[in-house]
Amino acid sequence: MDGGSPDKHVPTVLEDLVLRVGSQGQSRLATAFVAIVGRAHDLVAELQPSTDELKGVIDFLTDVGHTADARRQEWVLLADVIGVSTRVEDINCPRPEGATPNTLPGPFYRADVPDLPQRANLSRDGLGDPLEVRLRIKDLDGHPIQQAQVEVWHANALGRYENQDPDLQPEFNLRGRLRSDAEGRVQFQTVKPRGYALPEDGPVGRLLTALGLRLERPAHLHFRVTAAGFQTLTTHIFDRHDPAIDRDALFGVRPELLADFRALPAATGGPAYELDLCLVLVPANPDSVARSAQSHLPGKEH
Ligand SMILES: [Fe+2]
Repeated sequence: MDGGSPDKHVPTVLEDLVLRVGSQGQSRLATAFVAIVGRAHDLVAELQPSTDELKGVIDFLTDVGHTADARRQEWVLLADVIGVSTRVEDINCPRPEGATPNTLPGPFYRADVPDLPQRANLSRDGLGDPLEVRLRIKDLDGHPIQQAQVEVWHANALGRYENQDPDLQPEFNLRGRLRSDAEGRVQFQTVKPRGYALPEDGPVGRLLTALGLRLERPAHLHFRVTAAGFQTLTTHIFDRHDPAIDRDALFGVRPELLADFRALPAATGGPAYELDLCLVLVPANPDSVARSAQSHLPGKEH
C-alpha cells in the first residue's frame, strides 16, 4: 500500500512514455515516435503475444538488418512488400486524373546511362524477342512535350537486369536515355521483358513464403521522364497479359499502366512485338495542375 488516494489514476506504461517524450518539447520526431509506439502498444493489447513470439519478431528484424548490405537492402524490400513504400510515394507524388501515375523506381535504376538517338536499339546482346516501342509524351491538355528526357530500363527475356548480371550481360544492356522530338515522340527498339521474382532467400522472402505469398513482379518497362516546366515522372508500364499481373509484390500495377505488347506476324521480318504508349506529365506549377485537371475531359486518350 502506498497510502495514496484509491481514486488516483496510475498512468499506463504508454501514458508514462508519452508524458516523458512530451516533456522534452514538440518535434516531428517526437510526434512520429509517440504514434508508432502507440500503435505497437495497441498491437500488444490486440495480439497478446507470448514472450517467445516477441523474441521471434526481434529475431526477424535482426535478421533483416544482417541481410542488408551495400548491394542488397532488405529493409527497403520489407517496406516495399508490405505496401508502405508505395503509400509514401502516393502521398508525395499525387497525380491528377488524366496524368500518368507515379510509381517507385525499383532497385535497378542507374543514372549514368548513355544518351541514345531516336530509333536506337537498347539491346546490346540481341537476345530475346525484338520489341518496337513508340512513345508519346504529352501534357494534361494533350499537347506534345518536346525535348523531354526519357530514361528507360528493363529486365531481359529471362527477367534479369544488366546490373544483376554483370558477367552475363553487356553493361547498359536494355537501358538508355533518349529525347522526345518536336511531336513529343520517342521511338526505340529493344526486346520483350519477362517478369521476375524479388529475392526470396532472405528473411522477407521467408516471411512471405510462410504466408503463402510470392515476390513476383509482372513483366514491365521502367520510365523516368524529365521535362522543363513539368514534374518528373517515374513509372512502369506493365504487360497486361502477364500471369502475375494481379499480384505484383510492389503494388505498382494501376489500370492506367497496363499495356498490350502486340505480337506481330513472323512473315513481316520486323520486330516480334510492338508497343504504343502515351505518358502524360503534370506541370511543375501546382496552379497549372488545378486548371489543367479541371479542364481535362473524361475518357481523353492518354
Ligand atoms: Fe523492374
